[in-house]
Amino acid sequence: MKRIIFALALGNQLVTALPSVYRRSDIAAQQVGYISVSVATIWTDSSKPRPVDAPALTNPADIEGWLDSMTVDQYLDLTDNDRTQTQALYGARVDILSQQDGWYEVAVEGQPTPKNSLGYPGWMPAAQVSLDSSYGQLLSNKPFAAVDKVATAPLYRDVLMTETYLEISYDTRLPVIAHLGGLIQVAVPSGGSAYLSARHATVYDSISSIPYPTGKDLVNAGKLFLGRPYLWGGSSGFAFDCSGFTHTLYDARGITIARDSDAQADFTGHGTEIAQSELEPGDLIFYASNLTDPSSIYHVAMYAGNGEMLEAYGAGIPVRITPVRFNDDYWGAERFLTH
Ligand SMILES: *[C@@H]1O[C@H](CO)[C@@H](O)[C@H](O)[C@H]1NC(C)=O
Repeated sequence: MKRIIFALALGNQLVTALPSVYRRSDIAAQQVGYISVSVATIWTDSSKPRPVDAPALTNPADIEGWLDSMTVDQYLDLTDNDRTQTQALYGARVDILSQQDGWYEVAVEGQPTPKNSLGYPGWMPAAQVSLDSSYGQLLSNKPFAAVDKVATAPLYRDVLMTETYLEISYDTRLPVIAHLGGLIQVAVPSGGSAYLSARHATVYDSISSIPYPTGKDLVNAGKLFLGRPYLWGGSSGFAFDCSGFTHTLYDARGITIARDSDAQADFTGHGTEIAQSELEPGDLIFYASNLTDPSSIYHVAMYAGNGEMLEAYGAGIPVRITPVRFNDDYWGAERFLTH
């Protein structure tokens, strides 16, 4: 109890020291924003959301309600009509490229793609972005807490960790204000602070201080998401698409690979080609509709060992572990771990 009271006192002091005013800056001057919902979905353009997508467009966003409300046909339609591009996690930095009618065109940093050198491009509601540059400074300068022990974690409003403020995703990173035993006080993008449990998150000084993983570490992390829905464009612990899944598993361990499956197979020569007989846990396995055309790569999975792989396969099929398919569409495998 003594520890908690101390934390409470320290917490209050730090909260008041943080900027409480939401400072809206001029886009033209700033052009950087921070995601202020648990998970922001990035759309192909502002005409793509359907009525059923309303819970994904608000602040706060109701990501779980959205996923629960969609039928398999509605999930499939996201793919068939190329509605969603990717997702960005709470507190993450985006570059704002343009704005129109309450929407921002953004590039999501940390999701490399040949489509834009700044990050993965697409459109999102402006209401889901904070322009608070003082949060940005904390994000650049402070150690961060990374949700890396659970698929999703409660972010608490109160220091006693009873009142959930938001449920946030695996691989969310927030600047650390104070770290007291099991309690991590983090800054949040719309000003002020909140609390994470050390049962759900780890504090790192920088990305380079995240321990380099083994393939088994990546596979074990992947197993946290078994049974979660497949979502076209999904790249949060709530729901994934195939490459959002593999990108996130590497990203959480400080290794950046491309966002999309064809680019993961190809992008800037990061990986080493691995023969079928040499597969080890953590290797990525690619599938293509035309084995002489790299742009036809349409699926990626992670080798899990023992002839099995982890994958987010398609609409209506939850994240699963399944025997590796070595059929006509097997393109090959790549290894991204170097030791
Ligand atoms: C497969 O890709 C190659 C190279 O781009 C192309 O020449 C060929 O026509 C494609 N095959 C089919 C069946 O589309």
